[in-house]
Amino acid sequence: MLGNFTYCNPTKLYFGKDALCGLNEELPKYGKRVLLVYGGGSIKKNGIYDKVVKILKDNKKEIYEDAGVMPNPTTEKLKEGIERARKAKADLILAVGGGSVCDYAKAVSVSVHCKDDAWDKYYIRFEEPSCKIIPVGCVLTMVGTGSEMNGGSVITNHEQKLKIGHVFGENVFPKFSCLNPEFTYTLPKYQMIAGIYDIMSHVLEQYFSGEDDNTSDYISEGLLRSLIHSANIAVENPTDYEARSNIMWTATWALNTLVAKGKATDWMVHMLGQSVGAHTDATHGMTLSAVSMPYYRFILPYGTAKFARFAVNVWGVKPDGKTEKKIAEEGLNEMEKWMKKIGLVMNITELGATADMLEGIVESTLIMDGGYKVLDKNEIREILKASY
Ligand code: NZQ
Ligand code: ZN
Repeated sequence: MLGNFTYCNPTKLYFGKDALCGLNEELPKYGKRVLLVYGGGSIKKNGIYDKVVKILKDNKKEIYEDAGVMPNPTTEKLKEGIERARKAKADLILAVGGGSVCDYAKAVSVSVHCKDDAWDKYYIRFEEPSCKIIPVGCVLTMVGTGSEMNGGSVITNHEQKLKIGHVFGENVFPKFSCLNPEFTYTLPKYQMIAGIYDIMSHVLEQYFSGEDDNTSDYISEGLLRSLIHSANIAVENPTDYEARSNIMWTATWALNTLVAKGKATDWMVHMLGQSVGAHTDATHGMTLSAVSMPYYRFILPYGTAKFARFAVNVWGVKPDGKTEKKIAEEGLNEMEKWMKKIGLVMNITELGATADMLEGIVESTLIMDGGYKVLDKNEIREILKASY
């Protein structure tokens, strides 16, 4: 049964080959001082930086830069960014990059006018901002996280070996995002397929919760089928515009709060993956693929009917004459075959996890209670052992 909910997504999207022109519509709404936030330099190599700077200048903006946002942005970098934004007296933060850059921009946006320590307040105590928030806009260059249209912001604290996401409310969502699928063509294949699995995991972690006849589940199955179809094409031909644009659009819908409506939502694959990430600094999507099969095989007995539905509706498993359990298992087998075929990392050893990290990873895994089985630490340990 769908319970009570409110739904509002305030992010305005500009999608397609002309998406960057959206900046000309958006920039006049904000003051002169723009903090341009980006990563390690890919946007300088592929020309996106020059295009963005030209539009900023055409709109008579003063540009202040905060470069070098790393994948899995850290608390140290966040401190630096807060100082930069304060000095710049930024009226707008423009994030040009992937999920890391967008997440980081949101973290800075809620911290500039906040007196408390940002890590403790937002990522340990999960408080909402009580200060002025600097508006964030986004030009997306890497597809997967959905950060372009949600309130998520994930920060890594290497000292504490924790990687934690705060899902902020609507006031922290990007005000606008420009999504040009062509901007993703220069992504290394490893990042492209990591992003594809990140999308899949987002959908699955909302889909595998609750057993109701929920509209969200039908939408999710459609998103998954589109993703698998387009991923198969993009892996062969990374510049297939139709496939890349479908993947980009699917990523946005996978985590912009829509398919969570009426769902308890699981998120244990993300909790396991983030803990692996906190210890290895590995690529987000690959940390998810590496723990998924052991996790799903572990929880299958607690949600067999849904796994069987998934097998039939998403993977085309023929149900005739088979038990529900058999159908469900065949679905996971098909998924595993596909994951290997597109080149995902299937174990955490390959991501740099060593045996002596096991207890630390178990310790840093947050336990969520929305899935088919609330895990205890021993079960987390077993799943992680099976992921090595
Ligand atoms: O730093 P540069 O040089 O730009 O290189 C990046 C980076 O090395 C490169 N890249 C991005 N666009 C490119 C490109 N290279 C060539 N051409 C392009 N067009 O790709 C690498 C990865 O970028 P990153 O932003 O780290 O990837 P992603 O988008 O996967 O973001 C990962 C972060 O987002 C968090 C993750 O935990 C991780 O910290 N997440 C955020 C979520 C949210 N906001 O809701 C949810 C997700 O589950 C996820 O947890
Ligand atoms: Zn994710």
